Amino acid sequence: MKILTDPIELQHQCLTWRNQGLTIGLVPTMGFLHDGHMSLIDMARPQCDKLVVTLFVNPTQFGENEDLDNYPNDFDGDCAKAEAHGADIVFAPAPDAMYAPDHSTWVNVPPLGTHLCGASRPIHFRGVCTVVTKLFNLVQPTKAVFGQKDWQQLAIIRRMVRDLNIPVEILGHPIVRETDGLALSSRNAYLTEAERAAAPAIRQGLLKLAERVKNGTRDAEAAKHWLVKEYASTLPMGIVDYIELVTPDSIEPVTTISSPTLAAVAIRVGKARLLDNILIEV
Ligand code: PAJ
Repeated sequence: MKILTDPIELQHQCLTWRNQGLTIGLVPTMGFLHDGHMSLIDMARPQCDKLVVTLFVNPTQFGENEDLDNYPNDFDGDCAKAEAHGADIVFAPAPDAMYAPDHSTWVNVPPLGTHLCGASRPIHFRGVCTVVTKLFNLVQPTKAVFGQKDWQQLAIIRRMVRDLNIPVEILGHPIVRETDGLALSSRNAYLTEAERAAAPAIRQGLLKLAERVKNGTRDAEAAKHWLVKEYASTLPMGIVDYIELVTPDSIEPVTTISSPTLAAVAIRVGKARLLDNILIEV
């Protein structure tokens, strides 16, 4: 496995592979790899001849008061894991190798980015779309894998790829969880022991909400209100950033639950902002 930091070198290597008729899989990450990331890598590996894993804490997707400077990292551990799972290249550039001081071009998908995470992180998806476009241009992957834990991110990337005719197939991977149901996240490292013990309530609330819809709840406001109250009693240390019911592809709020609906939440527990979601079939 090669470890590259130079975007031009990455692009040359990948172009050489494409010219040889080889297919390339891409798994973009911000590092501190856990089993969620590893299952994305395992999904991509058998589907492509060559596999590129990127480790890049992308500064442009972090707001001013967010955790860019404290984002956890384990470069050597990440490289060992990526190699053990069959990566051909780990790409880990420095920020100034990815962004010129006068970088001025942005990719944005406004309609899908206004709700959920877009509401509290206004520049977040512009940063994500821009860096993912840059990675697509550097690697020219045949397939790229993203996790459903960040459902909105996956929906936005699918829309961007469709709208800009980017020649890549986007694969979504289901949420990988701890045995108690907490979605794996690099940010779980911020949780204290007590916060970690309480955090599975996030998933349990979503499961109960889906059950209520199955039993006839159709009014989205009532469903959200119920979940706010549920978390107030099961996760009193949690601060709700959002609880939303949206259409799964276009991420628009629904008022009546009459077709498959995504229930998505972001809850602040201590220093961590934890995301989870469930697709509710009706
Ligand atoms: P990061 O948070 O490191 O996540 C990298 C990929 O792993 C994303 O596609 C994310 O959805 C997926 N992932 C994380 N936890 C998961 C879990 N528990 N189950 C399944 N998939 C999981 O998302 C980003 O980085 C960045 O925004 C990035 C796309 C790399 C652009 O900078």
